[in-house]
Amino acid sequence: AVAKRGYHEKVLDHYSRPRNVGSMNKADLDVGTGLVGAPACGDVMKLQIRVDESTGRISDVKFKTFGCGSAIASSSYLTELVRGMSLEDAGKIKNTEIAKELCLPPVKLHCSMLAEDAIKSAIKDYKSKRTGKPTLGVAA
Ligand code: FES
Ligand code: FES
Repeated sequence: AVAKRGYHEKVLDHYSRPRNVGSMNKADLDVGTGLVGAPACGDVMKLQIRVDESTGRISDVKFKTFGCGSAIASSSYLTELVRGMSLEDAGKIKNTEIAKELCLPPVKLHCSMLAEDAIKSAIKDYKSKRTGKPTLGVAA
């Protein structure tokens, strides 16, 4: 059902009870940070993942979104989706999956795009931190 003001119930649920809001220390070697903006509206999303070295899977995830209800709902839903995922699978998430789950209207598609960009950017940051650096066990 579509709730008042055109927002879908699932959007309102995530918007009023966002999951996994917060921050991690971006200096941690097992943390990847994605910070992206939507040129269309100026909204900004920060998404952070912590990666379990031994499994290559996302063990924790946090977000902060300064944006519309659909952007907050998209990032909140995304955090639930990627927890426990391999980096490879998380990197394949498409904004259309998020938009479909939340029943976002076409005008709000770019809000879910922000979430796709954010997870991709967090994975990229994590990977770039890993290359050319000593492994965690021997880092000073
Ligand atoms: Fe209303 Fe999905 S919850 S159509
Ligand atoms: Fe721009 Fe939602 S209106 S992120």
